[in-house]
Formats: sequence, structure tokens, C-alpha cells
Amino acid sequence: MFHEIDMQDYHEFLSEILIPEDVLQNRIAEVGAKISRDYHGQDLLLVCILRGGVLFLADLMRHITVPHTLDFMAVSSYGVGARSTTGQARINLDLNTDIHNRNVLLIEDIVDSGYTIKSVMEILSARKPKTLRICALLDKAERREIPVPLDYCGFTIPDKFVFGYGLDIDEYYRNLPFVGVLDIAKYHPEG
Ligand code: IMP
Ligand code: MG
Repeated sequence: MFHEIDMQDYHEFLSEILIPEDVLQNRIAEVGAKISRDYHGQDLLLVCILRGGVLFLADLMRHITVPHTLDFMAVSSYGVGARSTTGQARINLDLNTDIHNRNVLLIEDIVDSGYTIKSVMEILSARKPKTLRICALLDKAERREIPVPLDYCGFTIPDKFVFGYGLDIDEYYRNLPFVGVLDIAKYHPEG
């Protein structure tokens, strides 16, 4: 079914711009520089978690000066009940790269409860990479249910639903260049 929201209409349910474009880009440059220092002289594989991580990946990699390759992974998180049964997210798209003995850095848009990234870490660490670390743009720290070490983090944010810069509302608005807070009371997708 055709989605009726005009791309310009986000103003109606944007409660505030949490992270403006220039602040995002400056911080991403800093994170990229830190990664470049830490992996100096080493080979690196960036693994982007689809779909929310794509804008972050594209901007971050332009600030990474060590040689690196890319791969992509898509996972679905289960509900809490199913999660406690299986302990793992489902892989919808797996890597094409053999990560054995590689330096792997996961690129994620946001860590909320922590279950998704924790599950990806478990799946990938079983493949015996040389190193496996996490780089998340946003950390909703107060929502964490299981501890996950965020080796690199762009911003710690409050417990609010955010969109833009890769993060979606019902799959839309990922293209916005800033991170905004959704005013849920004003969001009416059916018009
Ligand atoms: P977790 O497993 O609870 O850490 O969930 C992380 C995933 O939930 C992220 O990869 C996002 O896809 C999604 N998510 C969590 N919070 C938000 C948000 O505020 N806006 C958009 N997506 C979110
Ligand atoms: Mg995600």
C-alpha cells in the first residue's frame, strides 16, 4: 500500500531536533579519527548493521584512514519472550566475508535494550575474529537491559523515540540529515 506521508511533513510530528547535522558530522569525524588511531597499522572490516547504520557508515568511513573493507548484516530482534527462549536474533542477511582472524568493527545506529547487538556479537564471535568491537552512533543508556561494551559511541541520548539519520519511523525518514525526537501524539500515518 502506498504510504501517504509527504517527506516534508515531518515538521508536524518533530518535537525537537536532538542532534543537528553539524554536531553529528563533527562528532563522527572525531570517532573516525579515534578508530584510525586505534587500528593504525592493522587491517579492518566494517560490518554495518542494516538498515539503520547505513548513513553513519557512509559518513564515518570517510574519516577512517586505515585500510578497510565493508560488509553488511541484517537481523531481526525477537520479542522478549522469544528472546529468552532462543537467546539470539534471527539473521536475515549474513556476511559474505570470512571474518576468521579479522579485526571486525560493528557499525550500529542505536543501542537500546542491547539485545540486538549482544546477539550479533554472540553470532560473530563464534566465527573467531581476531577482534570484535562495537561502534554505535547513539546509546539509549537508561534503557539497557543487558550490558554491552560500546567501544565507540557517538552520543548518549535520553529515552525518547528518535528518527532521521538512518533511523526510521515505519521505514521512512531515514534520509533526514539530523536526529529528531518523535512527538508520538502528533504522528498519524493514516492521514
Ligand atoms: P535493542 O535490541 O533494544 O538494543 O534495539 C536496537 C534496535 O531498535 C536498533 O537497531 C533500532 O533499529 C531500533 N530502535 C531502538 N530505538 C529506536 C529509536 O528511538 N528510533 C528508531 N529505531 C530505534
Ligand atoms: Mg538497527
